[in-house]
Amino acid sequence: MGLNNLDLTNRRGIITGAGQGIGRALALEFGRRGGHLLLVGRQLATLTETARLVAFEGGTTEILVEDLTRGGAVERIKQTVASRSAVDLLVNNAGNVRAGRLEMTSDADVHSMIDLNLTAPILLTKTLLPTLRQSGKGRGSIILNVSSGIALVGMPFYAVYAATKSGIAQFGEALRRELIGMGVHVATVYPGATDTAMMTSQNAGDELGWGRRSLGAWVGKAHLGLMPRNTGPGLGVGWALMAR
Ligand SMILES: NC(=O)c1ccc[n+]([C@@H]2O[C@H](COP(=O)([O-])OP(=O)(O)OC[C@H]3O[C@@H](n4cnc5c(N)ncnc54)[C@H](OP(=O)(O)O)[C@@H]3O)[C@@H](O)[C@H]2O)c1
Repeated sequence: MGLNNLDLTNRRGIITGAGQGIGRALALEFGRRGGHLLLVGRQLATLTETARLVAFEGGTTEILVEDLTRGGAVERIKQTVASRSAVDLLVNNAGNVRAGRLEMTSDADVHSMIDLNLTAPILLTKTLLPTLRQSGKGRGSIILNVSSGIALVGMPFYAVYAATKSGIAQFGEALRRELIGMGVHVATVYPGATDTAMMTSQNAGDELGWGRRSLGAWVGKAHLGLMPRNTGPGLGVGWALMAR
């Protein structure tokens, strides 16, 4: 079953990294469909702006200012949603990237990418799984992991990032199979280069295969799960979704 076949309306859940970029765009999409969302990120100002935009679209939100790489963060998220009658959506979107030759990459940057892109979503998923399973008894809960086209095409100078993004993709794929028939659908998206804050430090353009899609372009057409594949000169990887 593709994500586009799932009922995306009135979802109650959590979106990490919801203050800007792809996370904000996803918050608006679920908000437009009547979602009640816990927006998680480190900056109150950007999360507040997302909350305002989601309200404009018809959704409701709460905000949790949290660094997902800090000890206890996952437990605090769990506590925040503990009183909710249902949690049937988890979007693991927050991520970071440091590009460059591996031998020039600091150990701190290696840890930072692994901690945020891989360890945090795995621990958050593990912690929330009982609630997601319980809430998914009717139409099924959704776990949506934001990977990257780089998980599919190993781009030079992105070795560590690629490791984290293929890691989260395979985590999702294995979990998807593990949870078949248990009321939790697991989907993975593989965005191509998208014009967000994350890409401001990235100078390569079309000529090096790094043509970017504007966030507005896909948000404008946004029908989750119905994204056209990127046929431009970029990575050539669009939004591929696998869910059951
Ligand atoms: N842009 C692209 O071309 C592209 C392509 C493929 C995949 N992706 C993936 O898409 C996801 C979103 O990326 P984006 O392009 O939208 O990036 P972005 O605009 O930089 O947004 C990243 C979000 O993550 C949050 N975040 C960062 N560190 C965090 C931490 N330690 N704890 C909690 N939240 C944290 C940020 O909010 P705060 O600063 O408030 O914490 C921000 O809202 C990432 O997983 C990225 O790897 C992006």
